[in-house]
Amino acid sequence: MSNTDLMQYFYTDEDTNSIPIDVVLKSEFSAWKKNQSKYLQNWIEASQFKAKASNVLRIPNMQGSLEKVLVIAEIENLMWCLGLCAKQLPAGKYHINSSHKDNEQLYLGWGLGAYQYIEYKKGQDKLCKLHIDGAIDINQLTAIIQAVTVVRDMVNAPASDMMPQHISKECESIAQEFGLKISECIGDNLITENYPVIHAVGRASAHEPRLIEFIWGDPQHPRVSLIGKGVSFDSGGLDIKSAQGMRLMKKDMGGAAHAAGIALAVMRLKLPIQLQVLIPAVENAISGDAFRPGDVLTSRSGKTIEIDNTDAEGRLILCDAITKAVESKPDLLIDFATLTGAARVALGTEVPAFFTNDDSSAADLMHASEIVNDPIWQLPLHQSYRYMLNSDIADIVNSAASGYGGAITAALYLKEFVPPETKWIHFDVMAYNMRARAGRPKGGEAMGLRAVVEFLQKRYTNQQ
Ligand code: BES
Ligand code: ZN
Ligand code: ZN
Repeated sequence: MSNTDLMQYFYTDEDTNSIPIDVVLKSEFSAWKKNQSKYLQNWIEASQFKAKASNVLRIPNMQGSLEKVLVIAEIENLMWCLGLCAKQLPAGKYHINSSHKDNEQLYLGWGLGAYQYIEYKKGQDKLCKLHIDGAIDINQLTAIIQAVTVVRDMVNAPASDMMPQHISKECESIAQEFGLKISECIGDNLITENYPVIHAVGRASAHEPRLIEFIWGDPQHPRVSLIGKGVSFDSGGLDIKSAQGMRLMKKDMGGAAHAAGIALAVMRLKLPIQLQVLIPAVENAISGDAFRPGDVLTSRSGKTIEIDNTDAEGRLILCDAITKAVESKPDLLIDFATLTGAARVALGTEVPAFFTNDDSSAADLMHASEIVNDPIWQLPLHQSYRYMLNSDIADIVNSAASGYGGAITAALYLKEFVPPETKWIHFDVMAYNMRARAGRPKGGEAMGLRAVVEFLQKRYTNQQ
């Protein structure tokens, strides 16, 4: 969907005959109610309306037509107050009737809440449009909604329709919009071009593994490299997962989806950086040719890796991509990956973990995350756990014998491939909403994406 499509789907610049949405703070609801007509007070009572954040009340006129909408907001979290509106209101035009009407987050919450994954379930198109005026930066708004939509759509797609070649098609269509071509290294070319670990992990699949790359922007600008784990389906490989553990593994290309989404936003917002996107895309499948526990792989970096567990495949494909990225000495390297279950044990499914070797990036990221209401949390690159990755026969093992601190040991593994002078941020994300919340439907989700875009915008344009 293009910028203009998005604008037409979820928003309108006309406000004639549009229905007002009163945004009332939870803390002010009782006082507000007392000032309303007896009719409205009765309607609130009869509807058993609860003044809970994001709750929506439809208020009819005497003819029974929708005249007004009431939604409840919390002052510390205005972002999601309109998040249920687009789903719960009838098709039509609406406008915000509130002193907060110039707050961009309200419009974002509306647009993100309007998302539906209807690829395989047609016939639900309903257009609720919110009036938007000159006070809102439409390019910024649509860039973010578009980026999040890319992540959700890619993750929600069934694995059979989001194999490495489909991930590459998604990248191609994003790159094309900006006049770019992607370059790819596919199948056995991964061996000749020295990406041996990506090849080893992906070679068992009927769908050839690949490394997808595109570069955008002025070479004079600082280089930012963005890497995303693109495991189209993670069966675990020979160390096969349980049925329950495998059920959601179509989302294991969530890191790739984040890289694609962030790239789209960066390019739409024309950030003054040179962006390199690198996506190793593989299916972690099982066949006679599958890589095995106990195998030793020599990576692009020259480091040898003993395979302890074929299910720790994400860090394997990432390390060859990281080595490629650092060859051009980026100013900043960011990777996104659905890397460990352990990160979810530590922080749950709704807070992505991040690791960094650069304290100032950590502080700036946390700040950005608070500003845009996109929670993230830093975990430590605790070097004394590095011993858990020692191998008897190679430079490193891909998985520690103990699961304790599993998100940290995975990050420490990646760190081995990042030169200490390269500023690096690693995100370990769920990329999936296990439950629906206002503005955040169940299914594929961008997590940390808005924080990173805000962080990049501030860092490279010096906006305060
Ligand atoms: N894709 C999984 C990690 C994952 C699982 C993310 C569930 C989100 C939810 C990854 O490839 C994996 O299987 N990791 C193993 C690592 C272990 C073998 C060291 C894990 O987390 O169990
Ligand atoms: Zn795995
Ligand atoms: Zn995985």
